[in-house]
Amino acid sequence: MRPTTRSLFVASLLVLPAAGLAHDDEDEDDVRQRPTTQPLPPPPGSAAATYQAECGSCHLAFPPRLLPEGSWRAMLQALDQHFGVNAEVDAATRQQLEGYLRANAGRPRPGPTRLRITEQSWWVHEHDEVSTATFARPAVLRASNCAACHLDADQGTFRERWVKIPR
Ligand code: HEC
Ligand code: HEC
Repeated sequence: MRPTTRSLFVASLLVLPAAGLAHDDEDEDDVRQRPTTQPLPPPPGSAAATYQAECGSCHLAFPPRLLPEGSWRAMLQALDQHFGVNAEVDAATRQQLEGYLRANAGRPRPGPTRLRITEQSWWVHEHDEVSTATFARPAVLRASNCAACHLDADQGTFRERWVKIPR
């Protein structure tokens, strides 16, 4: 994809959640604190590093275990039409990503292949008490914006104690 399109897109995804955090910090600073241990960056050149770079630039590099292999494979086959944006990578990169996602995918579930994590029935179930209006808040905007509410999302964990819904 064209670099300018991508960086503009990244900016648009990042600005709003950041604004939301700033707002919340004023109200309740220490509750909003994030886990103190930060994940180590993956070794340079590793498949995990490629995944971070290619699939973590517009949104969270979603932990591979959150989708079964079939969903990842279907997604990689249509990166030029990735939820309305072009996230195409070259063939070698795609192969590396496919191996990485296959090795780390979640267990297969019965039912149709759904591409979104937020469409998986376990995800819907975990969030059935979160209203549509809450997901629509300016500091959240998208259900896929996991880190808006899960302060440990960049560690790949989604523990109950780190859930904090922005107002
Ligand atoms: C150019 C920006 C961009 C890049 C690069 C990108 N994505 Fe996305 N991705 C998006 C957008 C936009 C959405 C849809 C966001 C929404 O509406 O919730 C999305 C959604 C997703 C979702 C679904 C989230 C949900 O709702 O459950 C997954 C999974 C995903 N991307 C994986 C990947 C993977 C894997 C890669 C790397 C091959 C990748 N993305 C690269 C922009 C990007
Ligand atoms: C609007 C806020 C919000 C967003 C956005 C959000 N979540 Fe959650 N999530 C919650 C809440 C609230 C719970 C319920 C916590 C509890 O168990 O009391 C939850 C629960 C979970 C759980 C179960 C945690 C446990 O151990 O009980 C997982 C896993 C999870 N979310 C993953 C995700 C992922 C992955 C995304 C992004 C694709 C996401 N969430 C987006 C608010 C959110």
